[in-house]
Amino acid sequence: MSHDADDIKVIAHRGASGVFPENTIAAIQAAYEMKVDFIEIDVHQTADKKVVVIHDKTVDRTTNGNGKVGELSIEYIRSLDAGLWKDKSFAGEKVPLLEEVFPFIDNNTQLLLEIKKGDDFYPGIEENILNILLEHNMLDKVIIQSFYPEVLVRLNTLNPELRLHQLLVLYAPGLPFHIDTSPRFRNLKTLDFVEQVNIYSKFAFRPVINNLRKNNFGTFVWTINEVKDLKKFMNKPINGIITDYPERMLDLKKD
Ligand code: G3P
Ligand code: CA
Repeated sequence: MSHDADDIKVIAHRGASGVFPENTIAAIQAAYEMKVDFIEIDVHQTADKKVVVIHDKTVDRTTNGNGKVGELSIEYIRSLDAGLWKDKSFAGEKVPLLEEVFPFIDNNTQLLLEIKKGDDFYPGIEENILNILLEHNMLDKVIIQSFYPEVLVRLNTLNPELRLHQLLVLYAPGLPFHIDTSPRFRNLKTLDFVEQVNIYSKFAFRPVINNLRKNNFGTFVWTINEVKDLKKFMNKPINGIITDYPERMLDLKKD
């Protein structure tokens, strides 16, 4: 793991979502054109089992429609506008299908795909995503992250070649306690099949980062947007920074 700021990966959170509407092709293409290291997206599954790129479990906040993704058809979701809420200049943006992101993924810009809810909420979603990745020959360009260890265990069982990251809100270094979506009284070693533990910036204290390194976990820190904070974290021994403003971090790297 590196201490060199040059080696800290730039990860565009929901695409270049500071300026463009999150999780749309506009935001994803902008991040790709900036040559970021990773594009982070969130996915949910429709009633007819299509994997779509959207953060919330409803379409209410980021489109002009209403309802829960899991109860809506792909036809309805594709009829919605996913750009207008950000600015009228983005009118016409759609909620993308997972596979529509792939033209913006290659060996230089890889995909950090967050599964928001697993099989208990969206039947078969892990297998569905794995099959889409395999069909498009994307396995070596994608890392899957989730707050739910159950999702990662299922993926690891389906295909041990998948690269996986656990998301945590809080980690108590050296103690068998962490918080993902709820408190877990167990040792991080139960996650030894994941490459990294990606942590919330507010709790990314030096002992936390050091302890993760000691336990051979890399870490991406989320979500850091202000230049002063980007500068601070670019001096820490972490593997990457997840930011809505990848352009700011890329500028700092040029200095
Ligand atoms: O990549 C980590 C971060 O995306 C997790 O939080 O709510 O932005 O998906 P959220
Ligand atoms: Ca996310």
